[in-house]
Amino acid sequence: MMLLKDLGFDVEQAESGPRALAILESGPTDIVLTDVRMPGMNGLELLGAIKERYPQTAVVIMTGYGTIPSAVEAIKLGAYDYITKPFAVEEFRQVFKRLVEMQELTRENHLLREQLKTRQGFANIIGTSGKMQKIYRLILKAAAKRHHVLILGESGTGKELVARAIHAQSPWANQPFVPVDCGALAPTLIESELFGHVRGAFTGANQTRQGLLAAAGGGTLFLDEIAELPVELQAKLLRALQEREIKPIGSNERVRLEARIIAATNQNVEDAIKRGAVRKDLYFRLNVVSLKMPPLRERKSDIPALVHYFIDHFGGEEGRIAGISYEAMTRLMNYNWPGNVRELENAIQRAMVLGAGPLIQVKDLPSNLLYPMTAPAEGPEILALEELERRAILQALEATGGDRLRAAKLLGIGKTTIYRKIKQYGLAKDVALGETA
Ligand SMILES: Nc1ncnc2c1ncn2[C@@H]1O[C@H](COP(=O)(O)OP(=O)(O)OP(=O)(O)O)[C@@H](O)[C@H]1O
Ligand SMILES: [Mg+2]
Repeated sequence: MMLLKDLGFDVEQAESGPRALAILESGPTDIVLTDVRMPGMNGLELLGAIKERYPQTAVVIMTGYGTIPSAVEAIKLGAYDYITKPFAVEEFRQVFKRLVEMQELTRENHLLREQLKTRQGFANIIGTSGKMQKIYRLILKAAAKRHHVLILGESGTGKELVARAIHAQSPWANQPFVPVDCGALAPTLIESELFGHVRGAFTGANQTRQGLLAAAGGGTLFLDEIAELPVELQAKLLRALQEREIKPIGSNERVRLEARIIAATNQNVEDAIKRGAVRKDLYFRLNVVSLKMPPLRERKSDIPALVHYFIDHFGGEEGRIAGISYEAMTRLMNYNWPGNVRELENAIQRAMVLGAGPLIQVKDLPSNLLYPMTAPAEGPEILALEELERRAILQALEATGGDRLRAAKLLGIGKTTIYRKIKQYGLAKDVALGETA
């Protein structure tokens, strides 16, 4: 026991076979070291039970002098190794050292296998470019810890996908993942949505309701478009995070906050802080770990894999469209993708509906890809991009007769984003706005 502790193991002692099984039941255990001769359940029976129920757990058997036959039987039954008593410290150390090395290797292999499941990326995230590899490493790192995470990146770059991957790779994956779009909730409702309320807390509160922060349990609350959260609520959220307690509206009692927060925004946070849209203290709180999703135009080598993935994905049963022509792929590679992966996804989906097949042709692609607007050769890059964005939105609004929802869909951006951009670029004066449904 002491020896194992000295070797750096976290040791628990059991006085019998059944007791050992109870410990195994209560949490993952790497190694079991057991005697053969024990009252009740003997060591070989225990070994059999462990191999059946916890195949990942390695078993090392201790045998007294003269019981070598049972040691041999133990190996046959799946024991990792045996140690004869009285044992030399060095032998003991060697056995455990080898065992730990082997287990680490198995674990690494397992992880690699998981990652390579798609051979094209990580989990259901497509892309093998260097920038995405970096993201996969960050996902794994973030998944292992319970720190809050902030995901930055332009619209459509896959922020939500990454948030889900962090949750799915974490030890808390069996707990809920609760997404909240802060931009889509009415400001009057959002406090009660997040924090919950008690019956009678305000007019219309006919029933006590658990908020989403509590509903996420020990899992993940994904706060999308965090910059859209009203500033007062950002303060309340910060307090909840600091105190790890949630105060439902109208309640004096507090509920423990167990969830990990993953927040996302497609805005430039520094600007948002300057404008007063994001509280600096909340930003620092959430920014313990941060990931910045690369825009698609900075990882164009991933476009072919993404295109084929979407063709498979939307192919469905009939599989009328089997691929894409070389010319069409060239257009996709030459385009700038302001709406990032979402815009690409929409373009492929649309082409699959419109195209006659079997290959997606240039004529099946959205018209803005066919006549790509080129940025002026000179002048600061940032201005050119903004101008491109303004024009793309204007074009989409014109094409949809000012229907903001459909325009947003065409561009591959969210509803809140297009509202904000229309305001930012003052487009309301250029087109008559409206929307379906
Ligand atoms: N690397 C990727 N591989 C496969 N699909 C992707 C990838 N990145 C994004 N997508 C797909 O593109 C769409 C947009 O992704 P997501 O919603 O995660 O983006 P976002 O950054 O949250 O966008 P927004 O800021 O507009 O909310 C989704 O349908 C998602 O499945
Ligand atoms: Mg999103």
